[in-house]
Amino acid sequence: MTARHLLDIESLGRDGLDHLLTLTDRFVEVSQRRVPKVPVLQGKTVVSLFYEDSTRTRLSFETAARRLSADVMTFSVSTSSANKGESIRDTVETIEAMGIDAIVVRHKAAGVPWQIAGWTGASVVNGGDGWHQHPTQALLDCYTIRQRLGGLEGRAIAIVGDAKHSRVARSNVDAFTALGADVTLVAPPTLLPASLDAWPVKVEHDLDAVLQRVDVVYLLRMQLERQEAGLVPSLREYSTFYGLTDERARTLRDDVLVMHPGPMNRGVEIGATVPDRPNTVITQQVANGVAVRMAVLFDLLAGGVL
Ligand code: NCD
Repeated sequence: MTARHLLDIESLGRDGLDHLLTLTDRFVEVSQRRVPKVPVLQGKTVVSLFYEDSTRTRLSFETAARRLSADVMTFSVSTSSANKGESIRDTVETIEAMGIDAIVVRHKAAGVPWQIAGWTGASVVNGGDGWHQHPTQALLDCYTIRQRLGGLEGRAIAIVGDAKHSRVARSNVDAFTALGADVTLVAPPTLLPASLDAWPVKVEHDLDAVLQRVDVVYLLRMQLERQEAGLVPSLREYSTFYGLTDERARTLRDDVLVMHPGPMNRGVEIGATVPDRPNTVITQQVANGVAVRMAVLFDLLAGGVL
């Protein structure tokens, strides 16, 4: 790959996805070593610029950068001059003046990573922009499915929940379908995007029926922070119709994968014991996330030469 940035899934295309997923195998191997570290990005600096809350994405990128021996700078809005009214552009120019090679950005507004890419000579990686895209989440999810099921071609995947407000849904639909999976969105009409014309998916409302014919159930968190009030009558009712409750999970074939990007709301979209089911792969998703992000940073910053 010769791209300088990773902003969305669409620009990667099938070849770019395959390339990064294959590269990830090498970093899974590195991550399993006694000292899980290689010197390939020595002398490079990676900044995480997170304007929106994050646990796993930020830690995962920072861990990935350190395992490649890059230096890491962390920007956190609550302790920065963004609180004093500094614009994103001024912040980026300030950080750039210190000498950096990559910026991982998360922002509540769609499009901010593209703007930053226009202002900086560094590589920009989108760590989640509003409802729009979250490409490394999609990559780690594809990697996890490939690892467990051998590939995505012809696999039936249900994405369940708040697709309307979810950047994970947008990136994952793009990636899953590019790799040949057959995707069904399952959600109440109020939590579906206003137009599904550009979405290569089927839509269903009967979760119980869908669960009987899929290979993967991908649960989305209710994006309460992005919703207007009143999109579902109550969380309890949402859970009754669209949650993978403990009872519903017992109707799944044992080999069906259950996935969730985290953070989970147990008792809303996922039953309390579903994370402990043998083929619930939520912790594998997190573990693979580090290796996928190592592959992405390596590809952007080392030009793919190991
Ligand atoms: C997701 C996000 O922030 O987009 N979390 C993550 O990155 N693992 C999903 C979510 O917040 O629901």
